[in-house]
Amino acid sequence: MNAKHPTALDSTQLNAEPYWMPFTGNRAFKANPATRTLVSAKGAYYQTAEGKTLFDCLSGLWCSALGHGDPRIAQTLKEQAETLDYSTAFQLANPQTLRLAERIAHLAPQGLDHVFFCNSGSESVDTALKMAIGYHRLRGEATRTRLIGRERGYHGVGMGGISVGGMVANRKMFAPLMLNGVDHLPHTWNLSQMAFSRGQPKWGAHLADELERLVALHDASTIAAVIVEPMAGSTGVLVPPEGYLQRLRELCTKHGILLIFDEVICGFGRVGEWFGAQRFGVTPDMITFAKCITNGVVPMGGVIVRDDIYNTFMAGPAHAVEFMHGYTYSGHPLAAAVGNVVLDIIEQDGLLDRARTLEPVLEDAIHSLKGDAGILDIRNIGLAAAIDLAPIEGSPGLRAYKLFEAGIEEGFLFRVTGDTVAMGPPFIATEGEIGAMVDGLRRCVKRVMG
Ligand SMILES: Cc1ncc(COP(=O)(O)O)c(C=O)c1O
Repeated sequence: MNAKHPTALDSTQLNAEPYWMPFTGNRAFKANPATRTLVSAKGAYYQTAEGKTLFDCLSGLWCSALGHGDPRIAQTLKEQAETLDYSTAFQLANPQTLRLAERIAHLAPQGLDHVFFCNSGSESVDTALKMAIGYHRLRGEATRTRLIGRERGYHGVGMGGISVGGMVANRKMFAPLMLNGVDHLPHTWNLSQMAFSRGQPKWGAHLADELERLVALHDASTIAAVIVEPMAGSTGVLVPPEGYLQRLRELCTKHGILLIFDEVICGFGRVGEWFGAQRFGVTPDMITFAKCITNGVVPMGGVIVRDDIYNTFMAGPAHAVEFMHGYTYSGHPLAAAVGNVVLDIIEQDGLLDRARTLEPVLEDAIHSLKGDAGILDIRNIGLAAAIDLAPIEGSPGLRAYKLFEAGIEEGFLFRVTGDTVAMGPPFIATEGEIGAMVDGLRRCVKRVMG
């Protein structure tokens, strides 16, 4: 098949059987693979193997914020592959990675001036957790080993990430692999107090005080770090209540606990600023990132670290490795080159402004669904929104799965988890496309409620 001009395929031409798909109902997919095999993408649209055009309601998987097929990214990839296609990051560097670290440090909140690269959100989380443990140990507080996550948190699928994560389905099968000494804060969603909130809910700042309870239980001297997503995306766009993150910051500072913001979804514009930290006015000690830094074109993740955390590691002989951690593809030159051009595009095309301009458009559109049958809650912040659907009795997740299928028929690629539908359109989407997406969602909800 010609990659540039794919021709329509039917399911008999696609052998999906050998492929074990991640986070997928494999058997349902394989019953008819052509409906959900994507062969090309341009701008805010995908094309399926059957030749159907789908609006990309979640920017890929929260990563393709600039839309697909930008020629500036393709050109950069080609040039970088011809110039320096690979270089190890162990004892060596390349100019693209050096430049990207400098730029990310500059964009991050003041004081977070060092950047460590890896290849995914999951790796960024496990890296940050190791940094937290190592930092306390090097400072002579080796008893600080406990990690605190949050219910309904998603921090990827590494052993660290699932341990601090709070999505039960991702944890229960792997219970013996959980890290010891992990505890969780309560999640911040409460239907009776915040249903249909626009932006940040007014109720819920006090939920951060649960950290005091955990400190009273375990003692601060055993706690290394708290990790939360400023806006929890994968669990269905849980927006932080007003004052909640501020309170968490105060308590972490008071007890010498590091605060890690997992910004794998929030980072690079999703909430209308470079980072959620800036949007919500709270500076953590570390920020994890991935996804939008390369627009999803090449895998990349990383951790941005406060100066004194980095400096704490810079001890011992200068030639000796200070942090025994890294990946073959850390700071990959292709990923770094794409990261640099992505930052250029966001800046040149004014895409943070664009995300901010579209935020009220998405907010008004999505909240127009309030009162429609079967919609239990609607949430939004930045260019992210979600609705909760009334589940089908006895079959959790089936209603939203049917909506996902209906969406494809209607020309929309919705992302569903449980009975929640999440949307995070590309920043290049037009106001008309956002309106059409919500109209399409309304039709799909009607279909699955009928
Ligand atoms: C907040 C957060 N952390 C970590 C991850 C894991 O990222 P990856 O799938 O790149 O490992 C995700 C993925 O959605 C995420 O949303």
